[in-house]
Amino acid sequence: MKILAIDTSCDDTCISILNIKNQKLKIRSVQFKILSNIVSSQVKIHQKYGGVYPSLAKREHQRNLPIVLKKALKEAGFEIFNFTTPLPPPSRLQRAPSFSIFKQIPKSKIPNINFIAVTIGPGLDPCLWTGVNFAKDLAKKWELPIIPVNHIEAHILANFLETRNKRQEIRNLFPAICLVVSGGHTQLILMKKIGDYKIIGETRDDAAGECFDKTARILGLPYPGGPAIATEAEKLLTTHYKLQTKLPRPMLNSKDYDFSFSGLKTAVLYQYKKSKIKNKKYKREMAREIQQAIIDVLIKKTIKAAKNYKARTILLGGGVAANKELRKQFQQKIVKELPNTCYLLPETCFCTDNAAMVGIAGYFNRNKATKNLEKIKAVANLRIY
Ligand code: KG4
Ligand code: ZN
Repeated sequence: MKILAIDTSCDDTCISILNIKNQKLKIRSVQFKILSNIVSSQVKIHQKYGGVYPSLAKREHQRNLPIVLKKALKEAGFEIFNFTTPLPPPSRLQRAPSFSIFKQIPKSKIPNINFIAVTIGPGLDPCLWTGVNFAKDLAKKWELPIIPVNHIEAHILANFLETRNKRQEIRNLFPAICLVVSGGHTQLILMKKIGDYKIIGETRDDAAGECFDKTARILGLPYPGGPAIATEAEKLLTTHYKLQTKLPRPMLNSKDYDFSFSGLKTAVLYQYKKSKIKNKKYKREMAREIQQAIIDVLIKKTIKAAKNYKARTILLGGGVAANKELRKQFQQKIVKELPNTCYLLPETCFCTDNAAMVGIAGYFNRNKATKNLEKIKAVANLRIY
């Protein structure tokens, strides 16, 4: 079975093609072969704004999608048909052209693909619709069913893309506590099986990734802030550093599983404004302290949830899960406090947005596949139950 997956939920235009083998056998033996996984990043475009500018992102998706599709098909070994790619509208206020490129594809050139999976939410509304409309045009032309995919579930299921995790007997992993940490979300999710999720805690204001992005901006570091802060923090060679004030760890000891990161951002802003010295060393110390404050809260709440729900697995997902220190410190804490708990985390390239994770989520949701395209709609605030 081949699935073509699309994600345009934020500022990356992603298309991937997966080949899924042995799907009639037990889940454990399902093989997910990634034939192609193209991510076209818009980072450079959004960098000057210090964050994602939705209408600009939408226009870039419209421009990139046909190009990314061509690349994904080529890399997956499909014959490439020649189509001219439409130019984006000259102004972001103008209506975009429909994806008329598909009219140019002769029927004989339709690739051997069984399903189209597309992220319908959560994400930025104009960006999501661009991907959904593109998927619909493609589905019409190729007469294929569409599987709607939840982006958060895709971040979770990215864990099952990899060979080392595939060796696990999947059903032995549950209940699992999933920490999804991205630019738009910070959620602790109780997962009883694939498809059965319950949010047990989430951020009340900014997401962890958003906190990285906003505090990086305060320090004059580039967007996206997560990798920029991690790089600065790593440059601080000593582990002994002294800041005027230790940054807060918001809600570290609250009884629930919720998070709050806007107070941390405000504390960084005040401290940065107050500080007379703003040299490289100071910025590195701040970067280290910001990263550690975020890590402390994420680890403490996740471990607490894993203990209380007697989780057999702790599973990470989302862009912030690419953070090296977070990955390492989680490992150390789990070994120390929950040695019998399995620890799953996707390869770094599958933490940040990609469509391979949408393909695997599509596979596990293939019962939702439909040719009634009217039913497929973007839902910006979609929840994972
Ligand atoms: O999952 P993702 O690619 O997109 C969303 O769904 O939001 O996550 C993007 C977020 C950004 O806020 C970015 O700063 C953060 O993930 N991020 C990181 C790292 N790489 C990306 N945060 C900390 N450390 C990293 N290495
Ligand atoms: Zn994401």
